[in-house]
Amino acid sequence: MKEKYIGLMSGTSMDAIDCVLVEFSDTTPHVLAASQTPINEDVRIQLLALCQGTDSELEKLAALDSCLGRLFAQDILKLLESTGTDPKTVSAIGSHGQTIRHYPPGSTLANNSIQIGDPNLIVALTDITTVADFRRRDMAVGGQGAPLVPAFHNEVFRSTAKNRVILNIGGIANITNLPRDADKKVSGFDTGPGNVLMDAWVALHLEATMDSDGAWGASGTINRPLLAKLLDDAYFTNPPPKSTGREYFNMDWLNPLLADHASTAADIQATLCELTAISISDAIENYAPQTDEILICGGGIHNKHLLDRLKTHQTQRSLQSTMDHGIDPDFVEAIAFAWLAKQTLEGKPGNLPSVTGADRPVILGGIYMA
Ligand SMILES: Nc1ncnc2c1ncn2[C@@H]1O[C@H](COP(=O)(O)OP(=O)(O)OP(=O)(O)O)[C@@H](O)[C@H]1O
Ligand SMILES: [Mg+2]
Repeated sequence: MKEKYIGLMSGTSMDAIDCVLVEFSDTTPHVLAASQTPINEDVRIQLLALCQGTDSELEKLAALDSCLGRLFAQDILKLLESTGTDPKTVSAIGSHGQTIRHYPPGSTLANNSIQIGDPNLIVALTDITTVADFRRRDMAVGGQGAPLVPAFHNEVFRSTAKNRVILNIGGIANITNLPRDADKKVSGFDTGPGNVLMDAWVALHLEATMDSDGAWGASGTINRPLLAKLLDDAYFTNPPPKSTGREYFNMDWLNPLLADHASTAADIQATLCELTAISISDAIENYAPQTDEILICGGGIHNKHLLDRLKTHQTQRSLQSTMDHGIDPDFVEAIAFAWLAKQTLEGKPGNLPSVTGADRPVILGGIYMA
C-alpha cells in the first residue's frame, strides 16, 4: 500500500529547512515534492546565540520554539499547496526539529538532546499528525540519540554485492557502515566536523555563510602542524558509539588551537577542509575497512574541494552520490525522518543499538495526533 509522509529537517548548519513529501510503498521512498527554505538571517543569528549560550535563555528558547514551529508548518503548507495535496491523505509528519543542545552520554553537563520547533503548532496549523522528539527515547535506554539515520540507510541503500558506507556531510559528518553480508551488523557514528567549522571560519572572514564549491579552501595551503594539532583531539580517536554537535566543534574549540600557528585565513580554511576529509577517511579506514563504495549525501557534497580531498584519501574506493542510487543527496536526512515517523506510527523501532549504543531497539518520538 502507498502511503504519504512528510519529513522535515533543519540540521546543525542552520542553512535551511528541508521539507519533503514522500510516498512509501513498502519501504522504497518516492519523493513527490521537496523544498529547501533558507532560514532568515535574523532567526539564524538568534538560534546561533541560543546554541552558544546567551542570557535569558529560557525566554529565548520559548520564543524560538514557537517561531520555528510556525516556520516548519508554513513550509509544509506551501509544499501541500504546490502539489495540490489534501492534508488528509498524509499519514504523518516526521519533524526532527532544530537541535540547540546535544549532550550525549559521557558529557559533563547533562545527558540530553534538545530539539525545538513546537510540534503542537505544526499539528494545529497543518492538521496532520506529527512525530517529533526522536532522539531522547534512544538516550533514555542508554544510547547516544544519534546518529538516527543509519536505520533508514540500511533500509534503502544496503547491497548484497558491495560493502557500502553512507557518508552524510552536514554540519557534522556521520558514516553508516552497511556490510554486504546480511549477518553482519550495521555500525555508524559521527566522525566529527563536516561543514560546521568551515562555515564558522567563512562567516568570520568573508561576507558569506559557506565556502561556495570550496573555492576559498582550494586557494589555501594545508598547515600540516596545525592539522596534526586539530586531529589530536580525543574525539577523533574515541571508539564508537559517539556523537557530537556544534556545542563541541565551534570557534571556542578552534581558537585556542590556532594560537601559535601563523597562517593566512585561506590556509586555515584549507586546513579545516582537510580536517573534515581526513577524519572521515580515518573513520572509514578504522571502522569500515572492507568498504567498496562510499555513497555521499548532505550539503558537503557540493564542496568540490572537499570531494577532491576525500578522493585523494580514498583512491581504492568508488565515491558516488546517493543520487546515483535514486535519492537526492540534499534530502536524504529529511526523507529519513519521514521514514522514522512511519516506523513510529507502525509501532516499529527506529534506532539501531549497534550504532547508538542503546540497550535495545525502541520506538522513537512523541506522537502529536491530529
Ligand atoms: N555549493 C556549496 N559549496 C560548498 N558548501 C556547500 C554548498 N552547498 C552546501 N554546502 C554546505 O553544506 C551545508 C549544509 O549541509 P546540510 O544541509 O546537509 O547540513 P545540516 O543542515 O547541518 O544537516 P544535518 O545536520 O542534518 O546533517 C552548508 O552549511 C554548507 O557548508
Ligand atoms: Mg541543512
